Amino acid sequence: MKKIAVFTSGGDAPGMNACVRAVVRTALSMGVEEVIGIKRGYAGMIAGDFVDLKSHSVSNIIQKGGTILMSARSKEFRTKEGREKAAAQLRQHGIEGVVAIGGDGTFTGAKIFTGEQSIPFIGVPGTIDNDIYGTDYTIGYDTALNTAMEAIDKIKDTANAHDRLFFVEVMGRDAGFIAMRTGIATGAEAVLIPESKTNIDDLVETLKGNHEQKKNSSIVVVAEGDDAGGAFDIARQVQERFDGYEIRVTILGHVQRGGRPTCADRVLASRLGVAAVEELLAGKHSTMVGMVNNQIQLTPFGQAIKHHQDINQQLMKMVEILS
Ligand code: F6P
Repeated sequence: MKKIAVFTSGGDAPGMNACVRAVVRTALSMGVEEVIGIKRGYAGMIAGDFVDLKSHSVSNIIQKGGTILMSARSKEFRTKEGREKAAAQLRQHGIEGVVAIGGDGTFTGAKIFTGEQSIPFIGVPGTIDNDIYGTDYTIGYDTALNTAMEAIDKIKDTANAHDRLFFVEVMGRDAGFIAMRTGIATGAEAVLIPESKTNIDDLVETLKGNHEQKKNSSIVVVAEGDDAGGAFDIARQVQERFDGYEIRVTILGHVQRGGRPTCADRVLASRLGVAAVEELLAGKHSTMVGMVNNQIQLTPFGQAIKHHQDINQQLMKMVEILS
């Protein structure tokens, strides 16, 4: 292949830039003559919003959050006409292969696209949610965990000072990985996640028990997609049944998506970026490169999006024992 493209899509994740850098430099070092950056994900692919990426174009970005290529969630790419426009743009620009950095939505789009068109795609898992099968960790997850953990540590200080109960909502529309890990790391009293049914009465019993044991503050970490509602709603339901604590709610929101990537995310992003180009040039397509037990592993798009990783039930149990 003499000309390939790379893009970032869906929710941005810290480390995406490190991955773009690795893709560009690996490709150029392996004899690819041109690397094209597609701006704004699939939306930019449809619009032909392409930039030439040289080795120097990706200097000084490894430490930066966000994505220099920008990102988007494209409605038009969900239509056949949109995908045909995108394919025409790629062909017109002589692009022979594409590296797609993103999560569930990105690979769903890539799977449909590569089923219709003969342009090879390789995926790299980049999302703070860690909800992709075929990799132990996704790019951005570690940074988001550390951001949320630091924020909750701070909330604990003020919760203690005022003898309060805090509900802290973290990201994860469909997945509780961020909630589970940050809950363990901050010693939360309870963690509420979409993967397991939330029982408000049981939660109230736990909180009452803690209160009786003279715990003077409590933290409940809530994944945004929890079945019992958002943190405000759950806080209201708890307050109606138990008034032992004064309650406050914090929504961490998009602060979790930004910031400088951690060392773990930069190294993961670099390794996956290198592997993506190697596999693309070796003729692989419609597959995602992941890291499993510290080894590169390939997983077809269909499997990566279909079989979400499972939440480790032992971790759930641990929260109960340690709280
Ligand atoms: O990137 C994944 C994610 O951060 C989810 O955890 C969250 O639900 C969603 O994106 C938010 O997306 P948006 O920024 O489009 O509102």
